[in-house]
Amino acid sequence: MDGRDLVRSLKAVGSVGAAQGLRTVRAAWRRQRADALGLTPRGAERARVPGVLESAEPGPGGGTLRFGAAELRITVTVSGAVFWGWDGAGPEPSYALAGRCPDPDPRAVLEPDKDGGWRVMAERVTVVVSRLGAIEVRTPGGVTLRRDLPPRWWEPAGGGPARWTQRSEVPADARFFGLGGRASGPRLRDGAYRLWNTDPGRAFAPGDDPLYLTMPVQWVVSDAGTHLVFHDSTWDGTVLLREGVEGAGSGHDRAGTSELRMEGGPLRCWVMVGTPARVLLAWASLTGAPALPPAWALGHHHARWGFGSEQEVRRIVAGYQERGLPLDAVHLDIDHLEEHRVFTVDPDRFAKLPQLAEELRQDGIRLVSIVDAAVKAEPGDAVYDSGKAADAFVRDASGQLVRGLVWPGESVFPDFTHPRVRRWWGRLYEERLAQGFSGFWHDMNEPTSFAAFGETTLPRSARHGLEGRGGDHREAHNVYALCMARAGYEGLAELAPRQRPFVFSRSGWAGMQRYGGTWSGDVATGWAGLRASLALVLGLGLCGVPYSGPDVGGYDGSPDPELFLRWFQLGAYLPLFRTHAGPGAGRREPWEFGPEVLEHARAALLERRRLLPYFVTLAQLARRTGAPYVRPVWWGAPEERALRDCEDAFLLGDCLLVAPVLEPGAERRTVQLPHGRWYDTVTGRAYEGPARVLADAPLSRIPVFARAGAVLPVRGDDGGLELEVWAPARGRTGRGLVVPDAGEGWEEPETERYVSRRSGRRVVVEREGEGGAAEPPYPVRIRGFGEG
Ligand code: GLC
Repeated sequence: MDGRDLVRSLKAVGSVGAAQGLRTVRAAWRRQRADALGLTPRGAERARVPGVLESAEPGPGGGTLRFGAAELRITVTVSGAVFWGWDGAGPEPSYALAGRCPDPDPRAVLEPDKDGGWRVMAERVTVVVSRLGAIEVRTPGGVTLRRDLPPRWWEPAGGGPARWTQRSEVPADARFFGLGGRASGPRLRDGAYRLWNTDPGRAFAPGDDPLYLTMPVQWVVSDAGTHLVFHDSTWDGTVLLREGVEGAGSGHDRAGTSELRMEGGPLRCWVMVGTPARVLLAWASLTGAPALPPAWALGHHHARWGFGSEQEVRRIVAGYQERGLPLDAVHLDIDHLEEHRVFTVDPDRFAKLPQLAEELRQDGIRLVSIVDAAVKAEPGDAVYDSGKAADAFVRDASGQLVRGLVWPGESVFPDFTHPRVRRWWGRLYEERLAQGFSGFWHDMNEPTSFAAFGETTLPRSARHGLEGRGGDHREAHNVYALCMARAGYEGLAELAPRQRPFVFSRSGWAGMQRYGGTWSGDVATGWAGLRASLALVLGLGLCGVPYSGPDVGGYDGSPDPELFLRWFQLGAYLPLFRTHAGPGAGRREPWEFGPEVLEHARAALLERRRLLPYFVTLAQLARRTGAPYVRPVWWGAPEERALRDCEDAFLLGDCLLVAPVLEPGAERRTVQLPHGRWYDTVTGRAYEGPARVLADAPLSRIPVFARAGAVLPVRGDDGGLELEVWAPARGRTGRGLVVPDAGEGWEEPETERYVSRRSGRRVVVEREGEGGAAEPPYPVRIRGFGEG
């Protein structure tokens, strides 16, 4: 967007301050451009490869291999994850790791391999290193999952960080997934994917890359097996993917390739091999258990940029209530702030916010507040003054504060990579808690400045604390939001110690699930945006961030009734179920689209409410095992190729398969069912998978299937917990897990295990326990009986 467009749009959204500030800020940018040059020019570079292997030294869980021009350290850890690092890079320090690096597995030993290479054999994986530094990851049976060619570094002759490239080959049939939130996923086709968190500056659609939340976390799923690879460098980079081609009897296979080009940072990586569930368990044990959202955050949220007043909030809430539409949270965007300043309230239009919050709470509705990263650079602004006194803001190489342009106008940016700054920021949430907010929506934290140096973020030469190591924005950029989430989470945990914090953030990085979830950002209103919003949730879940969801209805423009309804129906099965839109966009209240949409949206809301205990269980299971609520349909059978290529349906936990309608005019759709019996949850009709079936998808609902034998907790008509059990096929058993609601505190309720089986004409459901099987303590409803 050029300067004039920017001024126009800032005025349009009422950010007069920002529009006025633009001229001053532009002048400041011109001054700062000199600072951008403060980075040492790269100049001439020397290329380096490892050279020939000279010696090997076994160590705990692996060992160290010395090449002519590089050194490689390999460690297999007790969790089964493999680490390797070049040139002395160890697993720590790392922003991704939740704590210390797991212990080495004493059973994994380094031993000579053929042709002068070496290998480390572990229980689930073998790592083979060639004489020239190629690394192969193999299954215990010897099948290759990934082959990394010897890396290549480019070192500036005058010193400074080396760039590096790592080219890898994967089986010809492999599919790639992950890399954070990608609009063109979930299957990542041939192309370049950048690793640099970015606000695209407008509503995005498939094809826009990168977006707000990128991660160097890649999934590779092939017939030979599944693995996750994480390159632990926070620097800017690009992943070039090319799927392989199979010879199919008439030629050679061409391997798939992945080439990672990194602008800096250590060349180190983690590899996890096994079933998808095992891979995510290993990932979560390395990078941290996902924060547990409170039950209300698993209900329906309504947000709008531009409620404009407390009266309007009340009017919308009343609109939900009068129509019998469940509502659990209302999100206030920047228009409730005073001149868009973070940690303030507009004194005229939101004069009695604590009272409004209390009223809503009585009705079971929580208030969530937006919290932007940038602070208005104006003496007299309380946050600016206290931040300045605490030396909290990012400076350039000459010591000046780095300025940018965000919603409140000219702004400065807290350096969240500094523990002291995180503590200062964390305490600021006291003001939000006093206003009655229960949840926090972090935004603009890529970080975004509307325009600077041709980029929409801070200058790369900006200085950051980086936990005391010191460095510049090239290294800090991608973890800025992760560190902001940590600041908010830890601050809230201290301010309100009896309550689990609820934070979700637009940007983030590997490990951000420790502090909360995310949402899909400003997704473009349109059928392509609808599809993209599912791709993001699936991709992020595979990268360890299980709680996310789109702006239902899209962020900009006006969805037609059908699109809105289909989006709403999908949203009802995603972890974060939130309607939201920007200013100038059409309305997103379910009653704005006519009586038919209202009726069907009500059904979706009621079904979401009915499934709440299941969502609570899925949230708990995500916390305990890393498994996302929303899983690709290949989750249980990655070897099934048809499932790997299915991008328009997903598993919701173990029990349900959801097949959203992603196209206009559809009244039925094909659904790829995995192995086993599946019931259409509305008609009760049974299907035998694996199969491609045609399911009814009238406007009133999207197809949802239940796995035969599934035991899932639902909310009964009286509000109590019930078990919904889908009859197992004859001779088969089924199972289900239930974790009761933990409330808003830190208690860890026990996981209850249920089994279902057929006994003659009956279905029997029992709770498994130490003392043997027992009657379930809840009412049981059997479904799907009689069809098979
Ligand atoms: C950003 C956010 C959006 C929010 C807007 C104003 O564009 O992505 O959700 O409405 O800022 O705060």
